[in-house]
Amino acid sequence: EKGGHDYFMLKEIAEQPQAVADTLLGRLTEAGDIVLDEVRLTDQDLRDVDKVFIVACGTSYHAGMVAKYAIEHWTRLPCEVELASEFRYRDPVLDRSTLIIAISQSGETMDTLMAIRHAKEQKARVLAICNANGSTIPRESDAVLYTHAGPEIAVASTKAFLTQLAACYLVGLHLAHVRGIKYADEVAAVVAQLQAMPGKVEQVLETMEPVRELARQIADSRSVLFIGRHVGFPVALEGALKLKELAYMHAEGFAAGELKHGPIALIDKGTPVVCVVPSPAGRGVMHDKVVSNIQEVRARGARTIVIAEEGDVAVEPYADHLIRVPRTPTVLAPLVTVVPLQVLACEIAAARGNDVDQPRNLAKSVTVE
Ligand code: F6R
Repeated sequence: EKGGHDYFMLKEIAEQPQAVADTLLGRLTEAGDIVLDEVRLTDQDLRDVDKVFIVACGTSYHAGMVAKYAIEHWTRLPCEVELASEFRYRDPVLDRSTLIIAISQSGETMDTLMAIRHAKEQKARVLAICNANGSTIPRESDAVLYTHAGPEIAVASTKAFLTQLAACYLVGLHLAHVRGIKYADEVAAVVAQLQAMPGKVEQVLETMEPVRELARQIADSRSVLFIGRHVGFPVALEGALKLKELAYMHAEGFAAGELKHGPIALIDKGTPVVCVVPSPAGRGVMHDKVVSNIQEVRARGARTIVIAEEGDVAVEPYADHLIRVPRTPTVLAPLVTVVPLQVLACEIAAARGNDVDQPRNLAKSVTVE
């Protein structure tokens, strides 16, 4: 049942290219239109939206953080991301022109459900991105876009996360399309690039052997830090969350630019720091800043584990371990950069003798607030 893998988690990591392809299937037309048949909000409803809130928990929240970058960039709509458990307690400003995007693999997470109930009481429209057909959150939403990850058995979310990213990109592109936007050319190009992503995820999976070896080398570390910028920041948070859940190690993700405001004090001789490097193409300034951050942590003794695009030679002098990912437009990069972090956490947990599929103290679906 694990299809030749030692753990469900490894099986599900391996299924990611297919899961992403299935989630995109039939939803992107060659003409560059986006077909979202399960979204029962009219184009007019979507044109009336003046603000987007994304609510979710845990890994799904990290998908939402990535979605914020895509939605704001493509649609110019203001978009906030909020932990579902915090949302209703601060009395958010909502009305019928607010679009709530609730992201949940299980569709049963109580914190997320309570957030959408609160939003609906204020007349906001709710669009759910969900993996479990017919679960409570999609039933209570105005519209739903299902991710087609298939059942996720391992407690730690992997393939559901990648499909949530894919679904978020679709929603962003759809909003941009119906609202008519400034970046029409760019959006058309993204549609094509999105279709190429399953193949790129597959390419990453084929090069994971050195990550397994690295996992054995750092399995006894006291703490592992993760840094990233822009969409690399939620990827850093997700890498740290996977490691906490599975390896029971101290792990923290930071926005790379925040390091100098405090966290850099944590770095000691040999501390592993995983650095998610943005593409040098597109936003070169951001890339160069992250390269400086890598130099800074290394100068303080960090053991640097660098996730960088093929052909990015600038990182080479500062990488103790270099993990390559295929060239990808910046906003789509999380689909490839998170994969080595999933494998790393899984293999560190295995090296420490932990139960990878059923980590202690965790449940697959959290139905209490
Ligand atoms: C992490 C993980 C959790 C869930 C969170 C939300 O690996 O699985 O953080 O992402 O509990 O769950 P859903 O997406 O079902 O609402």
